[in-house]
Amino acid sequence: MRPISSIVFAFLAAALLLNHCKAAAEWVTCSGIVPMRYRNDKISITDFGGVGDGRTLNTKAFREAIYRIEHLRRRGGTLLYIPPGVYLTESFNLTSHMTLYLARGAVIKATTDTRYWPLIAPLPSYGRGRELPGGRYMSFIHGNGLHDVIITGENGTIDGQGEIWWNMWRRRTLQFTRPNLIEFMNSRGIIVSNVIFKNSPFWNIHPVYCSNVVINYVTILAPADSPNTDGIDPDSSTHVCIEDSYISTGDDLVAVKSGWDEYGIAYGRPSHGITIRRVTGSSPFAGIAIGSETSGGIEDVLAEHINLYNMGVGIHLKTNVGRGGVIRNITVSNVYMQNARKGIKIAGDVGDHPDTNYNPNALPVVKDVTIKDVWGEGVLQSGQIQGLKNSPFTGICLSNINLQGNVGPRNPPWKCSDVSGAAVRVSPWPCSELTSTYQAGSCSNSF
Ligand SMILES: *[C@@H]1O[C@H](CO)[C@@H](O)[C@H](O)[C@H]1NC(C)=O
Ligand SMILES: *[C@@H]1O[C@H](CO)[C@@H](O)[C@H](O)[C@H]1NC(C)=O
Ligand SMILES: *[C@@H]1O[C@H](CO)[C@@H](O)[C@H](O)[C@H]1NC(C)=O
Repeated sequence: MRPISSIVFAFLAAALLLNHCKAAAEWVTCSGIVPMRYRNDKISITDFGGVGDGRTLNTKAFREAIYRIEHLRRRGGTLLYIPPGVYLTESFNLTSHMTLYLARGAVIKATTDTRYWPLIAPLPSYGRGRELPGGRYMSFIHGNGLHDVIITGENGTIDGQGEIWWNMWRRRTLQFTRPNLIEFMNSRGIIVSNVIFKNSPFWNIHPVYCSNVVINYVTILAPADSPNTDGIDPDSSTHVCIEDSYISTGDDLVAVKSGWDEYGIAYGRPSHGITIRRVTGSSPFAGIAIGSETSGGIEDVLAEHINLYNMGVGIHLKTNVGRGGVIRNITVSNVYMQNARKGIKIAGDVGDHPDTNYNPNALPVVKDVTIKDVWGEGVLQSGQIQGLKNSPFTGICLSNINLQGNVGPRNPPWKCSDVSGAAVRVSPWPCSELTSTYQAGSCSNSF
């Protein structure tokens, strides 16, 4: 190489390198779907008689503060400040154009007196409470028909004191379905960020019939043996962005849902446009789950950069006969898992039914599922993909997957039936139902 060309070459190489670094430094995020808003009007819970001594009941203070926000309607909305301290309260409703701001050291704590907990109507896509017939207890913090709501701060805590509810479940003394910690219904333009959620009675964060929801930089904690304490359950909702969070609970970390059986089919409200990115956690159930309530359909889900430790199932797509609904265009990539009973499970026989009136001919459809770039250690069984005889799962595409730690020859690493698709660079080698080359049409939008 002559000196001049080698200088040009070095320059080009440097430029390429620089470009590459720039690309790597760009932080991919979906959080732009709801712009962060800063409020000029600020009030404090203490202005309404709030006392953060951990004993005084602050229900009246919360309800009055929010009533004030709702009725004064200050331009640009109002921020409700919760200073350091422990604020015991009954459940309360939020309103539009507000920020609930928890200072560092602020704790909003649910009362353990469950006798007067308000009951609300069942969700139409469920037809009854999720765990028991009839109505359901209102979530601890609730929002219905709202827009422009932010829950944030300096990592203050929302504590559901769920143990009392878990014990009622264990002793079978519950009368109605347990409350979620936070539920937004029919709402849009929601941000939940920089908050710690602790000991939810039931699911932690439940956006249902919502659009444009951002949940990021949250920490969600509940004991591994706490029943049904799902982390985040986007349900019949669209454009939901879940990022940069740590979740360690007793049930699925993130589970995308859309109602169940005849109620979910009749309501017909899908979940789509769901992004789950940079989530870390631990659970005896699933890391990233789709279902098992999938009757409105679930489409266009992307989950990437997921780190899982001590799991039941790493990635779990689950539905059931009687559910109907189409699960389509699901991509899960860049997953690291350490210690799991099962790496990947896709199954059509999971979950219970609301009642006996479901239509056994309403078969779910599962197609175009891409799972790629997965590394696992201590994974006892690599995978199980079992479709339905009369509705086989199609376009199931696995690539660049390495799941180590399978035990013994009597425990086959993969179990498959009624499934088609492809597998490339998958170890241990999956079942023969998945071909090693892509057929025209299958895996078209993958890799
Ligand atoms: C809170 O919202 C629920 C559901 O929208 C409603 O039934 C209930 O009456 C509201 N409670 C209060 C105190 O406003
Ligand atoms: C809150 O906690 C999260 C997760 O640990 C962290 O990423 C974030 O920076 C914290 N936020 C604040 C305001 O301290
Ligand atoms: C699949 O979903 C992704 C989002 O995860 C979306 O960008 C893409 O357009 C969808 N593809 C099809 C064919 O609908």
